[in-house]
Amino acid sequence: MNLAILGCGNIGGTIGRAIQKPGGKICVVAVYDIDEKKARRLAAQITPAPRVCKNVEELLKNGDADLVLEAASQEAVALYGKKIVESGKALMVMSVGAFTDDALLKDLRKAAEKKKVKIYVPSGAVAGIDGVKSASLGGLKKVTLTTRKNPKNLDVSVEEETVLYEGSARGGIKKYPKNVNVAATLSLAGIGLDKTVLRIIADPKTDKNTHEIVVEGVFGRFSVVMNNLPSPENPKTSYLAILSAMATLKRLSDPLEIGT
Ligand SMILES: NC(=O)c1ccc[n+]([C@@H]2O[C@H](COP(=O)([O-])OP(=O)(O)OC[C@H]3O[C@@H](n4cnc5c(N)ncnc54)[C@H](O)[C@@H]3O)[C@@H](O)[C@H]2O)c1
Repeated sequence: MNLAILGCGNIGGTIGRAIQKPGGKICVVAVYDIDEKKARRLAAQITPAPRVCKNVEELLKNGDADLVLEAASQEAVALYGKKIVESGKALMVMSVGAFTDDALLKDLRKAAEKKKVKIYVPSGAVAGIDGVKSASLGGLKKVTLTTRKNPKNLDVSVEEETVLYEGSARGGIKKYPKNVNVAATLSLAGIGLDKTVLRIIADPKTDKNTHEIVVEGVFGRFSVVMNNLPSPENPKTSYLAILSAMATLKRLSDPLEIGT
């Protein structure tokens, strides 16, 4: 599989450096970042070096990439998502908060259907998305996500444990757009952004990103607690989110697929 990377920061950089192995199945062929220095730096760390592109059009030309990994921003999904899909390439979206824009999601789905390409959203920083997808087919009654982080990872300053938000996932994502990719992914897999309940807690005593998911439905009930360590390069991103994208890429390039 030939991969193009849009956004060469923490996630794009870590994946770009780790995914291409000598004799392996995945090859990074092109990189682009709005900050060209970052794209150049990443390209220099990959052997053989991918093309460094000046814009998304360059990233898509040559026809060498099969899949574009978006690891940039919600804005980048809105600006370039359709262009990528219409070029006939698959798209993997990390800035999944962008899909709280219902019109954008509908538009991208339509374009992907027309071009017969797929849009992938990795599970991200949580386990249990497979269970939510299965359970939703039988009927879900309630899905709750409680996210607990150190205040500095939520861009707030509080002295003691504080519930910053409690309400629909849609509302929470609007208030904390950089921190709630998990809420967006969970909502898309389950009962949607308006029915999924989100609680965001700032806790000065924790150095972990903790997510607790409780799902109730016709199938029964399950709960998952994640105690994620931050990625070494960016304390705001759980390391598991990066590993999850790599696992999706591996799944796509492997003949055996395990799990829902
Ligand atoms: N799905 C998940 O589980 C999950 C987890 C963590 C982060 N994220 C999201 O993934 C995205 C990347 O995260 P990160 O930690 O790598 O961030 P980062 O800030 O380290 O890197 C983002 C890079 O994208 C570049 N960029 C931003 N907007 C761009 C644009 N319009 N065009 C081209 N380049 C652009 C920036 O210059 C930067 O180098 C963010 O939107 C973040 O919210 C998703």
